[in-house]
Amino acid sequence: GRVAVLYGGTSAEREISLISGAAVIASLERSGVDLVSLDAGSDLLHQLSTQAPDRVLIMLHGPGGEDGSLQGALQLLGLPYTGSGVFASALAMDKLHSKQFWHGVGLPTAQFAVLTGETDWAKTLQDLGGVVMVKPAHEGSSLGMTRADTPEALRNAWREAAALDSSVIAEQWISGAEYTVAILDGEVLPPIKLETDHGFYDFDAKYLANDTRYLCPCGLSDERESELKALALNAFSSLGCSGWGRVDVMANADGEFLLLEVNTVPGMTDHSLVPMAARVAGYSFDELVLKILDTSLS
Ligand code: DAL
Ligand code: MG
Repeated sequence: GRVAVLYGGTSAEREISLISGAAVIASLERSGVDLVSLDAGSDLLHQLSTQAPDRVLIMLHGPGGEDGSLQGALQLLGLPYTGSGVFASALAMDKLHSKQFWHGVGLPTAQFAVLTGETDWAKTLQDLGGVVMVKPAHEGSSLGMTRADTPEALRNAWREAAALDSSVIAEQWISGAEYTVAILDGEVLPPIKLETDHGFYDFDAKYLANDTRYLCPCGLSDERESELKALALNAFSSLGCSGWGRVDVMANADGEFLLLEVNTVPGMTDHSLVPMAARVAGYSFDELVLKILDTSLS
């Protein structure tokens, strides 16, 4: 049947989605898949009715593509789509509610606080150990994220994040290594360790820098790597996620793994992590894309 690839869109991650989408479209063309590609704008539902695809490959990042709203619309249209369903997409897109959920089921995640205009900046900072990462709850690619270690910096960081999102959190600063674990149709792919000189794995380190180091195999002992993979799968499944995705995790100074977030439509650019892990697992980019497409059938 005919596949519609949805990419671009209107979120702050549009530029990344254009690159992910172009890579996926080129790959499906190489594989001889009958496809139509749609830059998802306000006429998307009209386009879908006109083009009448048999299924949909979602390559949109951020709100409007990754947050359950599109998944709900596709469900109403009766169109099978790749990746997680409505509820899991909405939950995973929201860092605050993901963290509250994991906390509730006993999965490890760093301490955090919700920031609002009423926040006591000095007390919040002190409660969280003096250094925090401020994050808009519903963004990706590290957009709007700032480190803060003074009450004034915390307030400014909140302002910046609040310009992007109505929900903003501060998470206790984790000084340790960052890992990411891709999940593909029930298979946990080899974890990747991320090393950057940028202070954290920010937008530049993700997409622009040439000095970000990606280690896969990630250098953990077999036992620790198994622990990380099991935690990632547990975090993914507990939110109700399915199909494919990527779980971001950090290890603190004591070596304890702490969950950051789940991405239900992770990047597929040539700097992106899922293709890297897939390669190590023995899947070419084209095989990976076909496997992602197949998640629309389950
Ligand atoms: N949010 C970006 C696309 C990622 O997680 O890869
Ligand atoms: Mg994300």
